[in-house]
Amino acid sequence: MTAPHHHGTTHQHDDAPVDPNARLSPTEYWEKRYGDTERVWSGRVNATMAAVVGEFTPGSAIDLGCGEGGDVLWLAEQGWQAHGLDISSTAVGRARAEAATRGLEGATFTTTDLTAWQPEPESVDLVTASFFQSNVALDRTTILRRAASALRKSGHLVVVSHAAPPSWAADHPAAMINIHEEVERLAVPADTWTVERAEEIPRAALDPTGHPGEHLDAVLVLRRR
Ligand SMILES: C[S@@+](CC[C@H](N)C(=O)[O-])C[C@H]1O[C@@H](n2cnc3c(N)ncnc32)[C@H](O)[C@@H]1O
Repeated sequence: MTAPHHHGTTHQHDDAPVDPNARLSPTEYWEKRYGDTERVWSGRVNATMAAVVGEFTPGSAIDLGCGEGGDVLWLAEQGWQAHGLDISSTAVGRARAEAATRGLEGATFTTTDLTAWQPEPESVDLVTASFFQSNVALDRTTILRRAASALRKSGHLVVVSHAAPPSWAADHPAAMINIHEEVERLAVPADTWTVERAEEIPRAALDPTGHPGEHLDAVLVLRRR
């Protein structure tokens, strides 16, 4: 995810490390996560997202849980009108500041809790979500399905998620995504969606000590019929 300094997701094992902030509300949790450090993610686009979306003709896009805006800024650079949504005003403030610095008028952002958010139906060409996973309450499926209703006919939903902990942190506590379950949750009703991609692909990365390691990304691409 825009090459994290460190990841914020957790995977439930019986002996998993406990996140000391897991009892916070989602707003408090993410505000603390972003407020505790000057920058959480690298600011670069997620490589897997760029590889998928780079094939599409630019139009209008929504990015769910945009964080510090790496994907939205990249989309705007490619000619998209891209709007990022995130629960953390600190993250959104950083994303807006970066868009202004780079003069990217096509990158806009709103602070919102997506739990209570209703999109305008059939209003955009692309809905993206990169690592929209959380240690605290997140009704991910409801939000993704509702967001998918914002797609025009022939529009794409692209969801890139962690399918496994990083290779160097097998006991990393995280809520991982199984791509088969993801298809069952999101490609419904079946006659509305063409499943263009549903796969788990490895991504090379460096571990915190600089040695080679790997992430496993779950990649789902749906096209509205
Ligand atoms: C793991 S981060 C991914 C950030 C970004 N997409 C990236 O790839 O760098 C998950 C993001 O989801 C956001 N988030 C979590 N729950 C949310 C909610 N209910 N509404 C909006 N954003 C939420 C968090 O603030 C965080 O920025």
